[in-house]
Amino acid sequence: MSKNLSPIDTAKFVAAKRACDYVESGMRVGLGTGSTAAWLVRCLGEMVQGDGLDIVGVPTSTRTAELARQVGIKITSLDEAKWLDVTIDGTDEFDGELNLIKGGGGALLQEKIVATASDRMIVIADKTKQVETLGAFPLPVEVVPFGWQTTKALIEETLSSLDVLGDTSSLRMNNDTPFITDEGNFIIDLHLGRIGNARQFGMVVNQIPGVVENGLFIDICDVVIIGHGDGRVEVKDINTGTTEQDVIDFVDTENLFSDLAD
Ligand code: A5P
Repeated sequence: MSKNLSPIDTAKFVAAKRACDYVESGMRVGLGTGSTAAWLVRCLGEMVQGDGLDIVGVPTSTRTAELARQVGIKITSLDEAKWLDVTIDGTDEFDGELNLIKGGGGALLQEKIVATASDRMIVIADKTKQVETLGAFPLPVEVVPFGWQTTKALIEETLSSLDVLGDTSSLRMNNDTPFITDEGNFIIDLHLGRIGNARQFGMVVNQIPGVVENGLFIDICDVVIIGHGDGRVEVKDINTGTTEQDVIDFVDTENLFSDLAD
């Protein structure tokens, strides 16, 4: 069945499948959001149903919570779980230091809170997410709806003093109305092209009144698993400084491909 997957979906799937090696019974697991994380949730669901894996998941969005329930993963809130053993999530970009841009799916706030409350964050991605320098992907910034135009103007004004290429931003829309996050906020996407000092950038933007959080994940990710369309994976661990190569076996995964809707 796996031969029906496109190369990009194969890459996402094998990265997700490899990430399951980090999950054991008894763990509290942060469940990311997006198309790659959806593969992870399906793979874990298969392990729960088929192998008796006993875990509790903390979803990072209502979408992920719904999928986790569908595939039979027990879920709880972060406040109930308090601290997590591992969080596994996708990304929009990652660089050589495993710093990330996240939030393309609009779940950056919950994703950041959950990942930060975990012993370890594992990111799963296809090769297209790897960049030399962060910033080609528009940086999502979650802002409160009150006074959002003023907040947007202040952000743009601040960009001129920071080491970035672009200086425009746009309110994320959902058809004709602003996109609303799970926390009831708006998202402003910053078109920066290149972020010269992501650590400084994240701290400065978060100081602006009205900004709730930005999509830069600095020093949060421990491991990136990069999937390839031919079934190969690379596992980069920032703590050990190692990169391992592996190949994922598609045997016994047929059930996962019966419902490809994300
Ligand atoms: C969700 O808000 C994002 O942070 C996602 O994790 C990110 O956009 C990756 O999504 P895909 O796996 O669909 O590319």
